[in-house]
Amino acid sequence: MKTLSLIQPDDWHVHVRNGDLLKTVLPYTARQFARAIIMPNLKPPVTTVAQALAYRAEILQAIPSDVNFTPLMTLYLTPQTTLSEVQQAAATESIHAFKLYPAGATTNSEAGVNDLRGIFPILAALEKYDMPLLIHGEVTDESCDIFDRERVFIDTQLTQIHHQFPALRIVLEHVTTTEAVQFVQAANTNVAATITPQHLLFNRNALLAGGLRPHFYCLPVLKREPHRQALLAAATSGNPKFFLGTDSAPHLSALKENACGCAGCFSAFAALEFYAAAFEDANALDKLEGFASFYGADFYRLPRNTQTITLVKSAWQIPPVYGTADIRITPLQAGEILQWQMQSPDAL
Ligand code: NCD
Ligand code: ZN
Repeated sequence: MKTLSLIQPDDWHVHVRNGDLLKTVLPYTARQFARAIIMPNLKPPVTTVAQALAYRAEILQAIPSDVNFTPLMTLYLTPQTTLSEVQQAAATESIHAFKLYPAGATTNSEAGVNDLRGIFPILAALEKYDMPLLIHGEVTDESCDIFDRERVFIDTQLTQIHHQFPALRIVLEHVTTTEAVQFVQAANTNVAATITPQHLLFNRNALLAGGLRPHFYCLPVLKREPHRQALLAAATSGNPKFFLGTDSAPHLSALKENACGCAGCFSAFAALEFYAAAFEDANALDKLEGFASFYGADFYRLPRNTQTITLVKSAWQIPPVYGTADIRITPLQAGEILQWQMQSPDAL
């Protein structure tokens, strides 16, 4: 049987939520990944070191006892974020980054930032303390077409931020366009990007053609095929600026199958299988380990993992739903066949 062994990957962008939803979804991430950057867009958002440490404790409680997993915490930037919070976060070992949501850009981003210039002193502090800034790169201007929001953000905001703070380490999260790929390639080595499985595997037809498919709706929204091709080329290029971030973002099925459906795809249950499918399609399975297991750790200046995992080529069908009777979560590609399957983490 065909197998593929990798140093165990990390997920550099994931939403694990809190409460009962956390207990339901975290085991999937913890089984596949050694570490993950935990997004802070809870309700209310995780804006202080104290809140991040409390959230971290809640996550640690939800990790199955037979797996090793380390949550890497982040803080949510708001217009009220103080310089002293940045300083404290930088001095706290388990906190690894700040997340910038333009206010209104996505799920639970209302407390985010409207006026980027207003937080320039905070960005200067992040640069000074060498704390990475993770960016949801979309403008929120309602007159801007939703398919253009990432490109316009890069043109009108990100280019300026990078120019003003060239030593600030930036991760442009979940890139979806050719323009984002080009921006990251052209920027200095302090700029990197995460890429999700859905943006590598699907274009906007998956969402809109032949019926509206809410489980393919995430933000930034899926784009045209040439953009997908550009993302796939970047992910499989071996360029260390591009690394794995699933953006697995579970919502209850009922909230997605809705007149105003939530944004977010749940992929954590088979994240590596999805990436393996994308890399295999591009004839680039040999590039998966760098993307999934090395480049993110290098960017975050964390040691690479040493344990390995194995994927086996053995087809299986994605179930229609994950969770419990009360917490029903429809997975990405429910009912479809995946060719790869992860075995338990290999014994040390
Ligand atoms: C994310 C969520 O649900 O928290 N949704 C999404 O579509 N990706 C938020 C985000 O990362 O934009
Ligand atoms: Zn996200």
